[in-house]
Amino acid sequence: MKNLLITGGSGFIGSHLCLILLKNNYSLYVLDSFINSSYEALNRVKALAKFDKKNIDNNLKVFVGDMRDKKTIDNVFRFAYENNKRIDGVIHLASLKSVKESIEKPIDYWGNNIISTLNLVEIMIKYNCFNIVFSSSASIYQKDQKFVNEESFINPLHPYAETKVIIEKLLKSIFNAYQGKWKIVNLRYFNPIGAHSSGQLGEDPKGDPNNIFPRIIKVASGEIKKLYIFGNDWPTRDGSGIRDYIHVMDLAEGHLKALEYLNLIEPKILNINLGTGIGTTVIELVRVFEKVNNVKIPIAYEKRRNGDVSELVADISLAKSLINFFPSRSIQDMCKDGWKWYLNNPEGYENN
Ligand code: UD1
Repeated sequence: MKNLLITGGSGFIGSHLCLILLKNNYSLYVLDSFINSSYEALNRVKALAKFDKKNIDNNLKVFVGDMRDKKTIDNVFRFAYENNKRIDGVIHLASLKSVKESIEKPIDYWGNNIISTLNLVEIMIKYNCFNIVFSSSASIYQKDQKFVNEESFINPLHPYAETKVIIEKLLKSIFNAYQGKWKIVNLRYFNPIGAHSSGQLGEDPKGDPNNIFPRIIKVASGEIKKLYIFGNDWPTRDGSGIRDYIHVMDLAEGHLKALEYLNLIEPKILNINLGTGIGTTVIELVRVFEKVNNVKIPIAYEKRRNGDVSELVADISLAKSLINFFPSRSIQDMCKDGWKWYLNNPEGYENN
């Protein structure tokens, strides 16, 4: 598998992933609608890959389009076919991803996430491409479990997570229907944060972010005055919620490991948690951020956020044993790299 389609390749995870794949000699077709991301991210990827112009033009082709229109996807596969560089595999990241927005605008989420994926697999079958890595989420797990492995109970509580579960089911039914053809990996992400250590790639959320790391950055930069911590009465070591934060570069490397594994095996479908296996409280995260970056993060306590859980940490035994996944970057690295990205790009990619 050398020629890959990366859907959503210019987003937070996609841009870091494209860089790693290019450096590992993959040739990429990126398909993105850019509704939630910026073309500048891919310019940065090109610069960081340090390829000459010919090499980069040969190995990174960008297509703009909405995957709800089947023709958009067909065009990419046809282009690859006509240029004798057929797509061997797909990493499907493109998705709407805000929990809050999914509750307010369920039709957008069901429409975008499901129809896009249906179209994608239909076109993949048309072009005899049967390898896919799907970006799923730890938010699909039932909420009363602290330490989850891939067999833990699934019980999504909002449309965003529901679309992830339905897509996993869709992929399972396709696997069953085409015996002996598909290789499918659902990667269940925990909490990706941080940025590329160059400070050139990072998270550039549009609108008002709800997740903790972009909010810490907004407080550190003075854009908002205080970080509101949702609950100080959780049954944890300091009363704040525990999560499994993973450096976005480790997460991206997990995809590379999954691809390498797919290359070795017979057709198969599997689910793999991508986290670190280490839990960090909100207060610990804030303190590390302050220390490594020498900044102050004023905090205040708020009541618990609806739908939150006290603790969610990955059991990554399967990722370790099966795909040789050993995340190496610490919470300190995540905080340092994330802040460096902000300092280099206070407006995100916008002013480029
Ligand atoms: C959230 C989503 C989840 C999604 C994930 C990654 C919810 C209920 N869950 O998970 O479905 O997959 O993001 O995008 O929204 N916190 C604060 N103050 C803040 C923001 C967050 O104290 O301003 C706390 C939360 O209570 C939690 C931790 O920080 O304990 C992490 O929150 P967040 O970054 O939103 O991630 P999750 O809740 O794990």
